[in-house]
Amino acid sequence: MRKDISNAKAATDSGLKQTMQNTMNLARSEMGQTEFQRFSELIHTEFGIKMPPSKKVLLQSRFQKRLRALGLGGYKEYCDYVFSPEGREKERSHLIDVVTTNTTHFFREPKHWDIMNNLVLPELWGRGVGRGSPLRLWSAGCSSGEEPYTLGMILHEWGASHQGFDFSILATDISRKILAEAKRAVYAMEKVEEVPMPYKKKYMLKSKDKKLVKMDRLLTSKVSFQRLNFIDDFKLPQPQDIIFCRNVVIYFDRATQEGLFEKFCNNLKSGGYLFIGHSESLSGMTLPIKPVAPTVFQRI
Ligand SMILES: C[S@@+](CC[C@H](N)C(=O)[O-])C[C@H]1O[C@@H](n2cnc3c(N)ncnc32)[C@H](O)[C@@H]1O
Repeated sequence: MRKDISNAKAATDSGLKQTMQNTMNLARSEMGQTEFQRFSELIHTEFGIKMPPSKKVLLQSRFQKRLRALGLGGYKEYCDYVFSPEGREKERSHLIDVVTTNTTHFFREPKHWDIMNNLVLPELWGRGVGRGSPLRLWSAGCSSGEEPYTLGMILHEWGASHQGFDFSILATDISRKILAEAKRAVYAMEKVEEVPMPYKKKYMLKSKDKKLVKMDRLLTSKVSFQRLNFIDDFKLPQPQDIIFCRNVVIYFDRATQEGLFEKFCNNLKSGGYLFIGHSESLSGMTLPIKPVAPTVFQRI
């Protein structure tokens, strides 16, 4: 019995030593050029994300967690796994989580909320949009949900002062992990600091220890989440009245961006609106839209 225990302990110790050795080797090792090239092409063709040589160190550091989780000793082994039939099926979703940037927050880019309230919603409502059938809004690249829930609050407030108004929000992202967070609709209290107090009171429920909030059903019942990769050919079941696609295309090259905006225009009603991020631009692209405010466009 005592011998069994000491054998088991020796095995655990040697396993631990091996893991520590792998980790130390990994910290010292560098990804080969061939592997970087293969990853870079894959990430660009499958997810649209640019991966120039300047991003190699970043990619290496982001991969380390995956290598440790899989018990792999180096980037070459990881590369072979990602391209193997098993890796194709099981690892691609982890790869997406590793290479995407999910930074977001509530009420991001405040000028957009003024434009919604003072220009876009009055113009659409004046044409009867949202009356009889819901106004359709798409948050494309929604990350952990702060953008669609902010939009939910804006639209719900509009409805409170415009009788008969109804809306529905479609929120999509490529990452299943981030979509699961968005659907959970639970946020740390620090994350909702920017939300105006009356909205917090109306749309959020505090946990008993006051450390978390959960979005109220007033919002969650209005937002539906779906996985969508912008690189795939897609057509939404219904054309949209408003599309928000902010802080997503900065990671794409110009040709991919233009192709994507063409797809957005094909899914936007004539007279519908497209919002992009303040660090993004559509200049030089031939698209059936006209500017109506900085970073806001209307479908012709
Ligand atoms: C920086 S976040 C932007 C979130 C939000 N729109 C905002 O402005 O706060 C970018 C999001 O785009 C998603 N994304 C990246 N590549 C994508 C692709 N090919 N298809 C769909 N979503 C993608 C990422 O997963 C990430 O959640």
